[in-house]
Amino acid sequence: MPPALKALVAQLVGFGLMAATLVFGLMPADQPLALMVFQGGVAAAASLALRADNWWIPIHLAFGPALLFAARLGLHPGWYLGAFVLLLLIYGSSFRTQVPLFLSNRETARVVADLLPVDRSVRLLDLGSGTGGLLRILAAAHPQSQFVGIESAFLPYLISRLATQAQPNCVIHRADFWVSKFGEFDVVYAFLSPVPMPRLWRKLNVELKRGSLLIANSFPVPTVTPERVVDVGDRRGTRLYLYRI
Ligand SMILES: C[S@@+](CC[C@H](N)C(=O)[O-])C[C@H]1O[C@@H](n2cnc3c(N)ncnc32)[C@H](O)[C@@H]1O
Repeated sequence: MPPALKALVAQLVGFGLMAATLVFGLMPADQPLALMVFQGGVAAAASLALRADNWWIPIHLAFGPALLFAARLGLHPGWYLGAFVLLLLIYGSSFRTQVPLFLSNRETARVVADLLPVDRSVRLLDLGSGTGGLLRILAAAHPQSQFVGIESAFLPYLISRLATQAQPNCVIHRADFWVSKFGEFDVVYAFLSPVPMPRLWRKLNVELKRGSLLIANSFPVPTVTPERVVDVGDRRGTRLYLYRI
């Protein structure tokens, strides 16, 4: 069962048992905080039973009380709808890809720029290019090279398209990179999550030319020894894993 579905099932079990305690008069209806704490505890237990990752537990415990708190703020429902639509435009595809949006910082972009050759042009692909910040820095540092991003989430794609308009050596496509072909690229940059790395490594080995480079930010390819590991030296402790195809 996908993680988000497990979370939904756990919450529904929590609300179901909470409703049952009310129907059978086991808990007083005029103690909403106690009811929500009970609901959160049941949801957390259900999450454990479904073998979801442990970091879901604090989310389940806090979700019900947070709903109660939000209801007391008396905000117009339009705000919640707006926030939901915004999150959907940014993170909607994470449900399928299991890769959320978080961005490479400037220090990392500068280290990647230093890894690229200066005596010849290269074609670099950023898999899941987010808002395009990394590509903008690379395209400015290497005007003779070509930079391509593929991004599936609508709002980050739109932001990156607008932001890279003045950079002719930088192009962003809205697509699913699993159905794109990578054969024309010399360097692939991936800042994703641990989930897609084994499948990505198989795809790169089939499609990339020999001698091409994978730069994996933070998430190494399991069971494959990188040619080199570069510590960026930023506060995040970013590590780049370099693999030669
Ligand atoms: C961690 S962010 C990295 C953003 C950018 N590369 C950077 O380093 O700043 C990963 C991005 O990959 C995108 N993504 C994940 N799976 C994807 C797929 N199959 N096709 C296209 N984009 C994808 C997500 O929407 C997210 O914006």
